[in-house]
Amino acid sequence: MRITARIYRFDPVCDTAPRYETFTVDVEHGARVLHFLHAVHERDPGLSYRYCCGTGQCGSCAVRMDGIPVLACMEEVRDGITIDPLNLPVKKDLVVDMQPALERLAGIISGGEDHLLDRDTVETIKPLRGCIECLACVSVCPAMEVARFAGPTAMRQEMRRALDPRDNSDRITEAIRDGLFTCTTCQNCWKVCPKKIEIPAKAIEKLRAIANRMGLSLPRHREVEQLIRDTGRSIPRGKSSFLEQVPEVIEPEGKVRKTVGFFVGCMYDFRLPDAALDAIEVLRRNGIRVIIPHEQVCCGSPLIRTGQLQYLDNLQRRNIQAFTSRGIDTVVTMCAGCGSTLKKDYCTPFTVKDITEILTELGIEEPACLPLRITYHDPCHALHGQGIQEPARILLNNVVDIIEIPQKCCGAGGGTRSGCPDISSALGKRRAEELVTTGADVIVSCCPFCEYQLGEFADRSVKNITTILHEGYREKDRLARVHNR
Ligand code: SF4
Ligand code: SF4
Ligand code: FES
Repeated sequence: MRITARIYRFDPVCDTAPRYETFTVDVEHGARVLHFLHAVHERDPGLSYRYCCGTGQCGSCAVRMDGIPVLACMEEVRDGITIDPLNLPVKKDLVVDMQPALERLAGIISGGEDHLLDRDTVETIKPLRGCIECLACVSVCPAMEVARFAGPTAMRQEMRRALDPRDNSDRITEAIRDGLFTCTTCQNCWKVCPKKIEIPAKAIEKLRAIANRMGLSLPRHREVEQLIRDTGRSIPRGKSSFLEQVPEVIEPEGKVRKTVGFFVGCMYDFRLPDAALDAIEVLRRNGIRVIIPHEQVCCGSPLIRTGQLQYLDNLQRRNIQAFTSRGIDTVVTMCAGCGSTLKKDYCTPFTVKDITEILTELGIEEPACLPLRITYHDPCHALHGQGIQEPARILLNNVVDIIEIPQKCCGAGGGTRSGCPDISSALGKRRAEELVTTGADVIVSCCPFCEYQLGEFADRSVKNITTILHEGYREKDRLARVHNR
């Protein structure tokens, strides 16, 4: 088959700037990116790229295909793609400098005793051991771009060593020194990892949990934990909370199509209650009866992400009880962080759905078209945490014009906003600038942490997706009134 692709070319020794060159070559059906590069190399022996095993084992061939890190030897080539080096310092063309990142991987420091590991330890370490040092994770880590952070695979290695009884070094102090608390838990790293190593959950959060047991949690994180113990919420209350403004059961307009429980989360309850009220109106308008247990509390995400697990059982028990005692089989949340936590860190007898999922599944009454150009910010905990991307587009498509922009972390998650505010602000400012540069009138999202963070740094309005839908319904009603006059 014939494949045409653009390849990044740059030789720092003789080029003043990078450029793209387009090549068309014939390759076998099912060929990988590496086969394509070999074919190009036959025509242009000056092209530099790296490979060794050709079987996904050595990690040397990682490049970006249309912006996404892949192993060239494993990824099927497609016509029309662009091949870039990883987002690391370029040595030449597709070859990047891996040395600085690889040097940060901790070797074992033996305590002298060379005993064998028991089976349980081997099993615990296993998920962290499969790294092939391709550095795909390092190339997409937002924290590394703004902080002195050794990066995801270095943290993976620290956790691996921390679990190894033969290792005699203080891995926790080392990890903290190397930026453990700057990670936003955006989950970019494990999403691109060819070996699917869950670095945020299996390394970062675990290292933070050990740090917590050693009394090394950040003071601001400890304050948040205390606040949750005292009030059931992770932030101080605002003037009037969402839960104070709504009854326990909200009947829909017209026929009941579905009954759901509503999990509001700390941010929409205390800081952004108007957005949650808009969401309720959208659910009502679409025939959804909403039950809102008022004794619900924080989902525990701020505790899990920062490794403070002692009080988590209490929160989980109270939340599960609040919904099961009312016979609720589907719980809806509009907070990406809560949704990801309820789905992945709880064992619930009910189904959990993001509000964009339930609305697209049931189908909604079409709102009026609004004369707005918006850009949509995908929250990390929706996109990576729950795999949700399309529903927001489906809901917004006929209501506003959407200007798409590649996803990036806004820096609000993982306890970074409270624990490392400078790092969080740097990421927030950068993301806000990118979104503003699209020229959109409004930035839309579906996570209170993202909305609040971007609202602080963007010089334009930031709204929740349900607020846009609600505005669309209000416009529709206004037009109907004008028409009926
Ligand atoms: S979760 Fe995000 S910030 Fe943390 S190490 Fe992975 S890529 Fe970096
Ligand atoms: S953790 Fe995964 S993505 Fe990162 S270097 Fe290792 S194999 Fe590559
Ligand atoms: S060449 Fe070894 S992983 Fe691709």
